[in-house]
Amino acid sequence: MYDSSQPHYWLFGNFAPVDETPPCKDLDVIGHLPECLNGEFVRVGPNPKFAPVAGYHWFDGDGMIHGLRIKDGKATYLSRYVRTSRLKQEEYFGEPKFKKIGDLKGFLGLVMVYMQMLRTKLKVIDLSYGEGTGNTALIYHHGKLLALSEGDKPYAIKVLEDGDLQTVGLMDYDKRLSHAFTAHPKIDPVTGEMFTFGYAQAPPYVTYRVISNNGVMNDPVPITIAESIMMHDFAITENYAIFMDLPLYFRPKEMVTEKKLSYTFDVTKKARFGILPRVHNTCFNKKFITLEANAWEEEDEVVLIVCRLQKPNLEMVGGRAKEKLENFANELYEMRFNMETGLATQKKLSESAVDFPRVNQYYIGRKQRFVYATMLDSIAKVTGIVKFDLQAEPRAGKEKIEIGGNVKGIYDLGPGRYGSEAIFVPSKPGVDNEEDDGYLIFFTHDENTGKSSVTVIDAKTMSPNPVAVVPLPHRVPYGFHAFFVTEDQIQEQAKF
Ligand SMILES: [Fe+2]
Repeated sequence: MYDSSQPHYWLFGNFAPVDETPPCKDLDVIGHLPECLNGEFVRVGPNPKFAPVAGYHWFDGDGMIHGLRIKDGKATYLSRYVRTSRLKQEEYFGEPKFKKIGDLKGFLGLVMVYMQMLRTKLKVIDLSYGEGTGNTALIYHHGKLLALSEGDKPYAIKVLEDGDLQTVGLMDYDKRLSHAFTAHPKIDPVTGEMFTFGYAQAPPYVTYRVISNNGVMNDPVPITIAESIMMHDFAITENYAIFMDLPLYFRPKEMVTEKKLSYTFDVTKKARFGILPRVHNTCFNKKFITLEANAWEEEDEVVLIVCRLQKPNLEMVGGRAKEKLENFANELYEMRFNMETGLATQKKLSESAVDFPRVNQYYIGRKQRFVYATMLDSIAKVTGIVKFDLQAEPRAGKEKIEIGGNVKGIYDLGPGRYGSEAIFVPSKPGVDNEEDDGYLIFFTHDENTGKSSVTVIDAKTMSPNPVAVVPLPHRVPYGFHAFFVTEDQIQEQAKF
């Protein structure tokens, strides 16, 4: 069991793990929780159950989901581990046994790879049910909430009426899924299909899959690229899937000889974009796309809205040491690919670092207007939420995000207060309402007081006065992606 009194070098402050919390009912609600928020707001993140004996990287931690169940204006908080095969095996031993991303560095990395092979051969550990953490993102499809990490298959999670979360198990889609599954699949809001892919360290390096609205996984479509890369995200439009072949390569030799992590960014290589059905490929120099917000088709063009990172450095991202993320310029961009001429253009949309771009989910793959993103400080902590209007021009020559131009609203969390990914919840389902008629919901943590809360703001007005604040009984560590499970989805999945 994790001993919170141990001063592990890799844990600091508000990234440190916490214990599970069973449902904690009837929390105080400051303000009111609108009816459209009936459901459960969930956010996952790394929360290592056992202190690692060797390296640790914040991608490694066991997935823990923090949930706020909302029903008729009342709120219940809870947190539960995604009970992965890896977590259950390490619980049996009472210590970490699986190799970590943080281990895979230098000669020790090679030793850890062989150690894992030996443990597997000796049946100390069992890899037949994967070694993922379920710590990265959440999505709902075909009656199931899925916890995702891109090195493994999805874990199905049951949402109980009181908001509690039970891990059902690993999904293999009737044994049709035999490869990893991105943490960022896309669901077409009109057809209900889910689009996904997985990347691997052996050919085919990328495999594309479509899952029908009734949960049937279609045949694999191998995507041809030259080398094994880390591919975190992709995009869909009504007719295309857009893949980003970005130069973050799997280079195990460099891991040993240059003491780098096994995935390294190669500044000498170009980024390529592939659009299926394959019509054109195009290139941009030396950039990495962290997350895409949305994509759509517009006359002859495919338009992609993404966060673009100039210098990705996985060794420096988050929670491992109090290092500054030098030149952390993760900026919002619009990219246009002309499907007739093959020409590509790009335009910067944000003046400084943003991340976790989200849109109204009913517009996925369709032309839309508003993007909500988190504003980041120099160590990538979330200082506020910003609303961009894609139909307005960005202001030129500015270095800071301020109201004006394409920035329609900022919710500043204030000194010492930090947030997490904000999810847009529409007032009504569908596209009949105005696109920004709804709320943004997110976890916040006040480092001055040590208290965490869930905050709800009006997405249309971006008013500094929150619609609701729900103080939580425990600290919620900073983490990765969030999701909102609607009341209808909670009732639907209860039948499965
Ligand atoms: Fe992500």
